Amino acid sequence: MAPLATASVRSDTDTVTTRSHLIYFSSTSENTKRFVQKLGRDAARIPLYAHDAPLQALEPFVLVLPTYGGTNGEGSVPKQVIRFLNNPRNRELIRGVIGAGNTNFADNYCAAGDIIAAKCNVPHLYRFELMGTPEDVDRVNQGLEKFWTLLSQK
Ligand SMILES: Cc1cc2nc3c(=O)[nH]c(=O)nc-3n(C[C@H](O)[C@H](O)[C@H](O)COP(=O)(O)O)c2cc1C
Repeated sequence: MAPLATASVRSDTDTVTTRSHLIYFSSTSENTKRFVQKLGRDAARIPLYAHDAPLQALEPFVLVLPTYGGTNGEGSVPKQVIRFLNNPRNRELIRGVIGAGNTNFADNYCAAGDIIAAKCNVPHLYRFELMGTPEDVDRVNQGLEKFWTLLSQK
């Protein structure tokens, strides 16, 4: 299994920094964590608890986040992700979003990805359910390769 968050180091300002190009949030049910592990890429996890040291990105990244909301979009973005993106340096470095969710939520499927994409003016690159299928893993890995290649040519 690929290591997660190997690029993260604790700095003396009590912030965890990361050079990972993939940053994700996953709650205690850890579906998103399992999906990210299957990608086999270096990735950093947004901390779960308010007392955890905040995460600071140092390189451009794609954010993977699940939706937690009802049917009207209210509260769809996990508060840990809001905290992470309230840091202007993190907002500056986000380049795209991958949404996780469950199609049972119908119109609110992956709504958090839509909200972050609109707020940060970045593309919502992909949506997947729960911990993703092998096809999702292949498509995301291929898509990320293309995405970063295109961005590096700009
Ligand atoms: C209380 C609750 C609310 C949810 N709301 C939504 C929703 O509005 N839209 C959606 O697509 N998925 C929704 N989901 C599904 C989660 O996004 C999905 O289970 C995801 O895989 C959770 O990721 P995690 O285990 O990494 O936290 C909800 C799940 C729960 C438990």
